[in-house]
Amino acid sequence: MSFPAERTRRLRRTAALRRLVSETALSAADLIQPIFVVHGSGVRRAIASMPGVAQLSVDEVLDQEIESLREVGVSAVLLFGIPAVKDAIGSENFAEDGIVQRAIRRIRERVPQTVVMTDVCCCEYTDHGHCGVLRHDEVDNDATLEILGKVALSHAAAGADVVAPSGMMDGMVQAIRSALDDGGFSSRAILSYAVKYASAFYGPFRDAADSAPSFGDRKGYQMDPANVREALREARLDVAEGADMLMVKPALAYLDVVRAVHQATDVPLVTYNVSGEYAMVKAAAERGWLDERAVVLEALTSMRRAGASAIVTYHAKDAAGWLSADSTTP
Ligand code: PBG
Repeated sequence: MSFPAERTRRLRRTAALRRLVSETALSAADLIQPIFVVHGSGVRRAIASMPGVAQLSVDEVLDQEIESLREVGVSAVLLFGIPAVKDAIGSENFAEDGIVQRAIRRIRERVPQTVVMTDVCCCEYTDHGHCGVLRHDEVDNDATLEILGKVALSHAAAGADVVAPSGMMDGMVQAIRSALDDGGFSSRAILSYAVKYASAFYGPFRDAADSAPSFGDRKGYQMDPANVREALREARLDVAEGADMLMVKPALAYLDVVRAVHQATDVPLVTYNVSGEYAMVKAAAERGWLDERAVVLEALTSMRRAGASAIVTYHAKDAAGWLSADSTTP
């Protein structure tokens, strides 16, 4: 059959028909909201390059955020901490009363059904801003593993459901799995940022988390944007080390990688719609150059279409709100 007998437009004629044949669904349950937590009380510090995102203190301010996410059906959060003091090894990262540990305990207490995920990395905590400890101005992979194990264990002990190592150290998943198991937390899951590119799209995040490296860049540990076969290798290694879920990051410029990793593995796949992707949409929408709502829902749907089960996105709360408004319109 071909034209004029075959006409693809027939199934696009009405909204109800389009819904019926839609291949990809996006729902609030697929979204994970990143949250930046800081010391202090009553703090809601806006981030200039990420309109709508703020650093929040661990008190009513955090409670309100979790509550407003819950109202629109977003029950998963990914926590990032900004410590009081930074040092060479990032000591607050694994301190029992560290900022993330306090945030986890508060969320567990107030809204226990929340899926609490935590970023496990050193860059927000070290005074040099690199993702591990340094030796001769280079990140010492194996010395960093021991710290990552301690960080993950302290997050699990505070009540985290999922720890998400993002530093691209070799062996990080294995080190964290054994630290958790030895510490009595074999029930807690690891979401590995297995496929993380050295991307300029992380720019605004480094303002939000105050984590820009003080010298050099992250190309010695994060991946070259030119590579996709290497992504499959990273994914395979992390699954073998015990990753329960994998992440591909960034999302929009890497949907081919999302698709490739989705086809090559059988664990749930998450993609991270990063700060720079968020900032571009916000900046254009502010000028009236893009329709924010339409663009965000289109981009998130495309990530699902490429193979992501879940999406970490700064748009989570807004997108979930739009989705629930859509589902109530007749
Ligand atoms: C920390 C980390 C980064 C992001 C998530 N975890 C920054 C980096 O690697 O430089 C980026 C997130 C974003 O841009 O939204 N290692």
